[in-house]
Amino acid sequence: MSSATTPEFVLTRPRNAPLAPPPQYSRLRDEQPITRVTIWEGRLSPWLVTRWEDARAVLGSPAFSSDPTSAGFPAPRENMPPLPPGFFANSDAPVHTTMRRALTREFMVKRIEALRPAITRTTGELLDEMSRAPAPVDFVERFALPLPSLVICDLLGVPYEDHDFFQSHSKTFVDLGTTPEQFTTSWDALNSYLSQLIAAKRSKPGDDVLTGLAEHVDAGTVTERDATDMAVFLLFAGHETTANMIALSTLTLLQHPEQIPHLFAGPAQTAIAVEELLRYLAIVHGGLRRYALEDVRVGEVAIRAGEGVIVPLHVANRDPEVFADPDGLDLGRANARHHVTFGYGVHQCLGQPLARAELQIVLPELFRRLPDLRIAVPLEDIAFKQNTMVYGVEELPVSW
Ligand code: HEM
Repeated sequence: MSSATTPEFVLTRPRNAPLAPPPQYSRLRDEQPITRVTIWEGRLSPWLVTRWEDARAVLGSPAFSSDPTSAGFPAPRENMPPLPPGFFANSDAPVHTTMRRALTREFMVKRIEALRPAITRTTGELLDEMSRAPAPVDFVERFALPLPSLVICDLLGVPYEDHDFFQSHSKTFVDLGTTPEQFTTSWDALNSYLSQLIAAKRSKPGDDVLTGLAEHVDAGTVTERDATDMAVFLLFAGHETTANMIALSTLTLLQHPEQIPHLFAGPAQTAIAVEELLRYLAIVHGGLRRYALEDVRVGEVAIRAGEGVIVPLHVANRDPEVFADPDGLDLGRANARHHVTFGYGVHQCLGQPLARAELQIVLPELFRRLPDLRIAVPLEDIAFKQNTMVYGVEELPVSW
């Protein structure tokens, strides 16, 4: 495959403006919605699927695998260290089905709804602490990261006091600059930490996910090894995603202050506003990766067994066929919830009720308590995370 005619898919291609997807990919969606791209310096040529409808067709089809161990799988990096099956976003049925089922109860909407009072309390405490500090402060360090970290620790049954340890290791999983050695070091550290915690839940059970996993091990539904890997995955997934979403949503709202009143127009309107922020920001911007297990047709294109596919969610979320004025932010957008920010199909985000609850609580509370919140530096001075699977800001200096 000649790379002269085939565009390269570069994860770190800068976003536009800086929140919109790179314009090159939006153009491809409008002109060549399913096209070959190159990755790994031209050594692999997967398909890039950019339209909303085609994205859902790929992500919803059992013809596509998420297992990165197949040769030719379009992984974000060529020499990606092999992920264990317990990182079950990267496994297929029946392994994936068993693991996901073992956790469904803990992430059910009803159970997450019961966490709302605790999330509200923690939000208030962190905002009180932040507003007592002399401004400016780094909003990421003071609020956007500790809030989801405290919540996921509570849900899993992990002591928050250890947050420096697990937050720094969680970062290595999304940072594409991580060497295989660093990855393995972080993996081993988190693994031994969580395996000890799960073992301790046997003698001292709690009402938490790690206790649930210990029970699954005892019942023989999942192995001890898989339970530990699943716990590592959940701890990491619960941090890097929501923290980036809180920080970027805050930045976005401060750039569109006329839309902030939507957050206060009642729970249904707050929920719509959060869906629009999820659509607009689509933070998992590295593209979901899949591999065709059989010949399959997507739109006008025949994809052959063994070929890879990349689905950039931030590009599909701005498909003008589905969303009117897709590059505009409209916190009252009626169909915003049709976004694919949480993926689609069997791997659709397990933590989405939790992420939604956190955002629906945090954003109105933040702007209610700190109506004069503002960014303390010019936009050009804000460092955006480019070389990571999840988009965000490194720091967000704020005053109020
Ligand atoms: C705004 C925040 C979040 C976003 C944008 C997000 C996005 C995603 C996406 C796009 C996927 C699909 C991956 C694929 O199909 O390959 C996914 C899967 C997953 N997410 Fe999230 N996520 C968020 C928050 C969370 C939280 C708070 C948790 C809690 C632990 C979580 C846990 C998971 C898990 C376990 C999976 C794998 C599901 C499966 O493969 O069956 N996520 N997430």
